[in-house]
This record gives sequence, C-alpha cells and structure tokens, in this order.
Amino acid sequence: TTEPLVLGIESSCDETGVAFVRGNTLLTDAVASSVDLHARFGGVVPEVASRAHLEAMIPMMSRAAAEAGHALSDVDAVAVTSGPGLAGALMVGVAAAKAVAWALDKPLYGVNHLAAHVCADVLDHGPLPSPTVALLVSGGHTDLLLVNDIATDITALGRTIDDAAGEAFDKVARVLGLPYPGGPEIDRLAVDGSPTAIAFPRGLTARKDLERHRYDFSFSGLKTAVVRYVQEQQRDGAQLNLPDIAASFSEAVADVLTRKAIDACQEYGIRNLQIGGGVTANRWLRAMAEERCAAAGIELRVPRIRLCTDNGAMVAALGSQIVQRGLPPSALDLGTDSSLPV
Ligand code: KG4
Ligand code: ZN
Repeated sequence: TTEPLVLGIESSCDETGVAFVRGNTLLTDAVASSVDLHARFGGVVPEVASRAHLEAMIPMMSRAAAEAGHALSDVDAVAVTSGPGLAGALMVGVAAAKAVAWALDKPLYGVNHLAAHVCADVLDHGPLPSPTVALLVSGGHTDLLLVNDIATDITALGRTIDDAAGEAFDKVARVLGLPYPGGPEIDRLAVDGSPTAIAFPRGLTARKDLERHRYDFSFSGLKTAVVRYVQEQQRDGAQLNLPDIAASFSEAVADVLTRKAIDACQEYGIRNLQIGGGVTANRWLRAMAEERCAAAGIELRVPRIRLCTDNGAMVAALGSQIVQRGLPPSALDLGTDSSLPV
C-alpha cells in the first residue's frame, strides 16, 4: 500500500506555501512571497500579508497540484499551520485548509509552525534521530528546542527575550542603510570584513544571566551596540567600514547561537543538532556550526535553504508524521493561535 498523500498549507507570515508530501518524500512545493510588498515598510505589515495570502492561496494550490501531477481530490489528509504567527495571516491558511478538508471529507491537522520548521529536515535527511536539539532562527523566531518526537514531544529550552535573530539582522542592516530584508545584505558584506574588528556584546552569556537564561537569547543590546558604534564613527567623521561591522556583528550572533545550542547538546548528552529557519542561510552561522559541531562530536543536520525558509513542505512533512503515528485529527472548528507553544 502506498503512504497517504498529505497536502500542507503555510501562511503564518509573508510566505504562502502549498506542498504535497507522500511519506517522507516531497512531491512539490509552491511558494509565493509578499516580501517585496513589505520592503518599503522595513518589516512585515500584517494586513498586507493577509491580503497577499488571500490572493495567492488558490493559485498556489493549483500550481502545487499541477506540478505534483495530482488532483486536489487525491489528497488523503490536509495539514495547516495554526500557530504561532500573524493572526490574520494564519486565518487565511486555516480557512483554506478547512474548506479543502470539508469538501473532500478528509482529516484536517492543525500543526505548530516551529515543529514544522524542524520537520522540514525529514524531507532531506529522513527521520530525525531521537533525541535531537533543534535551533530555529528566522525573522520571527529564535528558539532552542529539545525534540524527543517531532509529532508528540518537543520541549522549549529557550528563546529570544527580545528580537529574533533575523530581526536583528534586518534592524542592523537598516542602520547601515541597506535594503530590507537585510540579512542577505549583511551576509554578503561580511565576506570581506574582519570578525574581530569590533568587539560587539554577546547577549545573555554573562554568568549572572546564565542562571535565569541558560538557553535564552537577546539581540537588542547587540543592535544598540551597533547603533552606538555607527554614531560614534560618524561623529568622529570616520568612514564606516561596512564589511567589518557586518562581519563583527555576524560573528557575535553566530557565536551565541552555536555556543548555546552546543551547550544544550552537551548538557543533555545529545549528539544531534538540527538548524532551520531563514537565518540558516547565513554563511557565518553555517561555518561556525559546522566547525563547532565537528569539534564537539555532534552530528549537524541543516536542510537545503529552500526548506529553511517558510514553506508548505515542512507543514505537509509534519502532517505526514502525525498521520503515520495515527494521531487524532483536528476538529473543523479549529482556530488559530498567534502564540501557540510547541
Ligand atoms: O524563515 P524566514 O524566511 O521568514 C520568517 O521570518 O519566518 O526568515 C527571514 C529572515 C529575515 O530576517 C532575513 O533577513 C533573514 O532571515 N536572513 C538572513 C539571511 N538570509 C535571510 N540573515 C542572515 N544571513 C542571511 N544570509
Ligand atoms: Zn517560519
């Protein structure tokens, strides 16, 4: 017997994602992004994102179905992100998923966006080893998770207490006069800079902070330090060395992220680290994670970049895991939860 065909729908932020997954195999993945509409605002505007989802949802469904060589009526189950995320944006995806599930009389599964990010890795590397420590770094999230079972047992070890890592990249880029989203811009500049040129702070790594915030992150102090540095340079009439600032900032972010993730692996005796989310595209972070994991004897899993950013594939992948475990579906009065915990 063939495994069930799962439709996955994602709309928690600015990407409208629709995908088909069978078992652990990705058949097709259609994504429309409204990022360009938000660029002039310097960040995602919720209302604009919701409208864009409304317009893109059916086109993405028909594109995904056509590319998969399936009719929508072939699906055996529908999975959708029900939180966390932007309330209005989530509603568009959940409403669409319910319509399909109800019309086809197929089970509906509301899934957690953070767990779905981790689950994306299954599509590239097969089942996650248990347990795994997962680091999720995006424009909206920075979470360190202890994953015993992707569908039923995830514990949050820590999270950002202010800005998400990607948000920090975007805000610092803005200070440097770079376009939104600034992460890729800073990443490019950093290639020609020195990571030790400027000593930027590492949030929540002092001994007193570690007592209460062992696995939490903070990036707002780092952002402020960059702002202050830029102001001082400008006051002194100095030419800003953008590559050095970019490299030193990237180093500070990657240092804290990888250090805490590896500390968690060591404290819990776990030899597997999975990294996901849009910031995973960052060269500095990937290089440092590879180097430090190798030194610590930890196996690092990072899916291809396309699966790190928001997409429907990760949602379908998690739906597929839930179906494989025979867990109960969601009711058709499923709601959304902007701050859904893992
Ligand atoms: O996962 P994602 O596509 O969307 C969500 O936030 O859910 O992540 C987007 C974030 C943005 O903040 C962007 O600046 C950042 O990821 N980003 C990067 C890089 N590519 C994207 N940050 C640093 N270096 C990069 N190469
Ligand atoms: Zn995301």
